[in-house]
Amino acid sequence: MTISQADERSRAANLVEVEDLKVYFPVRSGIIVDRHVGDVKAVDGISFEIKRGETLGLVGESGCGKTTAGRAILRLLEPTGGRIRFDGDDITHLHGDELRRLRRRMQMVFQDPYSSLNPRRNVGNIVEEPLNVHGIARGKEADGRVQELLEVVGLPRNAGNRYPHEFSGGQRQRIGLARSLALQPDLIIADEPVSALDVSIQAQMINLLEELQDEFQLTYLFIAHDLAVVRHISDRIAVMYLGKIMEVAPSARLYERPLHPYTKALLSAVPIPDPAVELERERILLKGDLPSPTNPPSGCRFHTRCPFAQKKRCPDEVPELRVLENGHTVACHYVEEIDAGRITTRTLEAAEPVAVPG
Ligand SMILES: Nc1ncnc2c1ncn2[C@@H]1O[C@H](COP(=O)(O)OP(=O)(O)OP(=O)(O)O)[C@@H](O)[C@H]1O
Ligand SMILES: [Mg+2]
Repeated sequence: MTISQADERSRAANLVEVEDLKVYFPVRSGIIVDRHVGDVKAVDGISFEIKRGETLGLVGESGCGKTTAGRAILRLLEPTGGRIRFDGDDITHLHGDELRRLRRRMQMVFQDPYSSLNPRRNVGNIVEEPLNVHGIARGKEADGRVQELLEVVGLPRNAGNRYPHEFSGGQRQRIGLARSLALQPDLIIADEPVSALDVSIQAQMINLLEELQDEFQLTYLFIAHDLAVVRHISDRIAVMYLGKIMEVAPSARLYERPLHPYTKALLSAVPIPDPAVELERERILLKGDLPSPTNPPSGCRFHTRCPFAQKKRCPDEVPELRVLENGHTVACHYVEEIDAGRITTRTLEAAEPVAVPG
C-alpha cells in the first residue's frame, strides 16, 4: 500500500480530523485607540481524529479550551490556525450556504439544560424548529417527526404541548437531545451533557446517549472535566491542559495506565472501588491554579504544576505528542523515565521534584 492509499484509508475511517487547530481570542485595550494587546490562546495547536461511530472523550480542567475546541469544530467559531476536516472535506473556513449545509450534519448538546431551551416556546416547537429552518418538514409531517423524536429520547407523548419549565433537568436534557437528533446528524458534540444533572440521572442520560449512538450510527465528541464521567461512554480519551492535548489513549488503557503526570493527577481525584488498589496507588496533587491562557508557561505548559518537572527541557522545550504503544500518545519529555520509576515524587505534596539518577 502506498502512503497516499494509507492516507485515504485512514481518512475514510475518520469522520473528523483536527490538525494543529488554534483558536485565539484577541484581548483589546484602550478607549480612544483600540489596541490589540494580546490573545487568549484558548486552543493552541491541537490534533486528533474521531473515527466514524466512535466516542472520543475530551477532558481537562475548567478553562483549558474544551468548549472552544468543540465550537470550532462545529464552526461556530472561526479557527485562528490549523485545519479541520469533516467527512474528508476541509471545513476550516467554510461560509454561507456551504456552512449551513454542514450544520445539519453536526449538532451540539449543551451543559446547561435550563438556559439552552427557549422558555417561551413549547417543547414541540423547540424540537420542530430545526426541521423548519432547514426546510426538511412542515405541518403534519413535522408533527409526526417530533412525536417520534420525543419517544426516542424517552419523553412522554404529550411532552410536545408543555413548556421547558415543566420538566426536570434530566428531562430538559432529553428535549435538547431530541432537538439535536431532528436533523439526523452524523456528529454530536456533547459539551458536559450530564454535569448539571443529579448523579442518579447522569447514568440514565449516558445510557440513553449510548443507545442513540447504536440506533442512529452517531459519532460523539463527549466533553467533560471529570474523568469518571467519560470513562464508560468513551472509546478513546484525549486529555487537555491549557489549550494543548497532553495524552490520548483508549479509554480502558488510560485508566489502567495513565502516563502523563497531568492525567495521573486528574485520576487521583477519581475514587477506585477496589480498596487494595486504592491504598496502593500513587496520589498526585496539583500545585497552584491553572495559569492564564493569555500568557501560558514556556516549554511544557504543565511544568509549573508538574510534580515530576525537571530543570532540563521542561521549562523551555515544548513536548511533541509522541505515539508510544497500543495507540497511547503522550506529550511529555520524561514519560519513559517516570513510567519506569526513574523520576518520582517523594511526597504527596511534592514540594520539590526529585530526580533519581537512572
Ligand atoms: N468568546 C471568548 N472571548 C474571550 N475569551 C474566551 C471566549 N471564550 C472562551 N474564552 C477563554 O478561553 C479559555 C477556554 O475557555 P473554554 O470555555 O473553551 O474552556 P472549557 O475547557 O470549556 O472550560 P469549562 O470546563 O469551564 O467549560 C478560557 O480562558 C476562557 O476564558
Ligand atoms: Mg466548557
